[in-house]
Amino acid sequence: MAETANKPAEASPEPTDPKTALATHPEVVRFTNVTKKFGVGNDSNVALQDVTFTVHDLPNTGELISIVGPSGCGKSTLLRMIAGLEPHYPPTSGTVEILGKADSSPSSEKGLVDQKYSLFPHLTVLKNVAFGLSLRGESRSTREDKAALWIKKVGLEGNESKYPQELSGGMQQRVAIASTLVLNPRILLMDEPFGALDPKIRLKMQELLVQLWNEQQSTVFIVTHSVEEALYLGDRVFRMASRPGRLVEIVQAPRPDIPPEEMRQKKWFVDMTRELLYRLEQDKNAAGELGSYPDYKSEIEHRHSDASSASK
Ligand SMILES: Nc1ncnc2c1ncn2[C@@H]1O[C@H](COP(=O)(O)OP(=O)(O)OP(=O)(O)O)[C@@H](O)[C@H]1O
Ligand SMILES: [Mg+2]
Repeated sequence: MAETANKPAEASPEPTDPKTALATHPEVVRFTNVTKKFGVGNDSNVALQDVTFTVHDLPNTGELISIVGPSGCGKSTLLRMIAGLEPHYPPTSGTVEILGKADSSPSSEKGLVDQKYSLFPHLTVLKNVAFGLSLRGESRSTREDKAALWIKKVGLEGNESKYPQELSGGMQQRVAIASTLVLNPRILLMDEPFGALDPKIRLKMQELLVQLWNEQQSTVFIVTHSVEEALYLGDRVFRMASRPGRLVEIVQAPRPDIPPEEMRQKKWFVDMTRELLYRLEQDKNAAGELGSYPDYKSEIEHRHSDASSASK
């Protein structure tokens, strides 16, 4: 089920074919031959080379893309390019289109949970989470109600009046996640959001993300160094390789409709994880189908028929 990046699959004339259904949906993100170089001359560094992909707006579902790849292969660059943040945006060559526009300036449609998450040290947890809403002109009581709700959702109830430095790294990270999710962005960009969390909370946060994503139906890009997390969360997993940073493989994965602990027990999941990990270690181009496991295939087909019928 792996498709080689940069070569879009042919659309079938069959009206019920999910690929045809996809073609009729608006595009949320389209990269066309995107290359990003930092520096000039001998010191120049190709952070991304010739990256092409499209993410459509799937009705009633959204899509979750997980991105894996070795350190330095351009994962954060790709995310920050979508966010429209300098110096990553604009690309050196190629085009980035967001929601049909060839302009990726920062906007509230896009929410980024950064790798180096940043909170305001002089604001309480409640005020940190409510901050973005004040920029939207919402009343104080509305934004504090919404902030309190999100603080509860990320499991930090009771910490509203604390300051960031009074919290552990993992708690601070959850405040950063709440501060972004409270804004209900159309495109959610998460750069290693669960990196600082202990394994138990990490699994809880994965489940929470899936639940929130089902509620909000936004398009989510999540960068992770955990192959299990990528396969569990992603509808598609983008595998990147380094030197130069490039997108080498797009792998379809089943919807996370069961808790992560349960999915981890499935044989196909264990086999896919091992194979993807091996390919990551090899850091080479696509190597054909990732999984030839019956369970895996039937789950993918199930998901595609859902996407197709949802579009009618
Ligand atoms: N602002 C910048 N100025 C110059 N070079 C940069 C800048 N940001 C990134 N790079 C370079 O671009 C390449 C890709 O960096 P990027 O941060 O996207 O990698 P990454 O895949 O997110 O790595 P990690 O897994 O370690 O976070 C690296 O070689 C990095 O040094
Ligand atoms: Mg990074």
